[in-house]
Amino acid sequence: MSDLKNELLTIRKVFQNEVLSIRTSTEADSLRVKFLGKKGELTAVLRAMGSLTAEERPVIGQLANDIRTEMEDTLAMRLSQVRAMEKAEQLATQTIDVTLPAQPVSMGARHPLYKAIDEICEVFLGLGYVIAEGPEVEYDLYNFEKLRLPKGHPARDTQDTFYITENILLRTQTSPVQVRVMEANKPPIKVVCPGKVYRSDALDSTHSPIFHQIEGLVVDKGVTMGDLVGSLQLFARKLFGENTKIRLRPHHFPFTEPSCEVDLTCWSCGGKGCRVCKGEGWIEVLGAGMVHPEVLAGCGIDPEIYSGFAFGIGVERTAMGRFGIDDIRNLYENDIRFLRQFK
Ligand code: DAH
Repeated sequence: MSDLKNELLTIRKVFQNEVLSIRTSTEADSLRVKFLGKKGELTAVLRAMGSLTAEERPVIGQLANDIRTEMEDTLAMRLSQVRAMEKAEQLATQTIDVTLPAQPVSMGARHPLYKAIDEICEVFLGLGYVIAEGPEVEYDLYNFEKLRLPKGHPARDTQDTFYITENILLRTQTSPVQVRVMEANKPPIKVVCPGKVYRSDALDSTHSPIFHQIEGLVVDKGVTMGDLVGSLQLFARKLFGENTKIRLRPHHFPFTEPSCEVDLTCWSCGGKGCRVCKGEGWIEVLGAGMVHPEVLAGCGIDPEIYSGFAFGIGVERTAMGRFGIDDIRNLYENDIRFLRQFK
């Protein structure tokens, strides 16, 4: 019995010496294995306890347990000291150079279509318009009927679209927003509405089944065609330069009377005639007119008291002219090499 007891006391002494010389947490680990592990010295003594008598066993067992607990506590304490030393050492030797140049962050840029939308809206916001919005999934009622395009009207053929149900479709124009704005507000009204529109057209260099328009609507007492011309002249000059002129050609839209298509002097040749304007000197950019009295009345606005003008600007056309893009498909392909030019 005293052999085992002496052995235990020796182990404890050796351990206490060795624990003091530990300098790293790895050393602490090896010490734990050496003394307390499955094949460790203390475990070996416990195994030998089988040879003891029934009286001796609890005494030595108790001593062994006390020594184990003591060793574990000592080791834990030493380990936390060693860890603190390691941390202090690390802080003293490792420095971070905050003056090193960082990896450059690559920045995206606004898409040319949205740049054009911003530029156009900016002109009208400057004239006191506010931005209006409407749904892209629209009722036939708003997209067509309230704009005087009843079912079966031939002008519907030029605006074939994608139907969700018989009465719900992807809007073919931003003009339905006019109706929504007039139904919800009393004059004076002055809004621009940028947005996506849809038509079942095949994609080629000048057509896309999804494109963008900016609708404009002004309703008040005494609004005239002259006001329309003034606003559009300003739009043309701000986007394409002071020398840009506009030209109104008579046209027909069911929701305006009179109606016109509006051309701008060619942004490429300034009006002399070139490849871009196909020798015309002019490029068509929008449709416009005086809001039809029946449309006003249909939205609860008395056409005897109020009048209004409206216009619908083709955003793709404008963006292509503004940034010198010759194929509409470039705007949708998301080719980084193309888009990067508009940073
Ligand atoms: N919505 C027409 C189109 O897509 C463009 C247009 C013409 C809008 C005349 C108007 C307008 O507001 O008054 O072809």
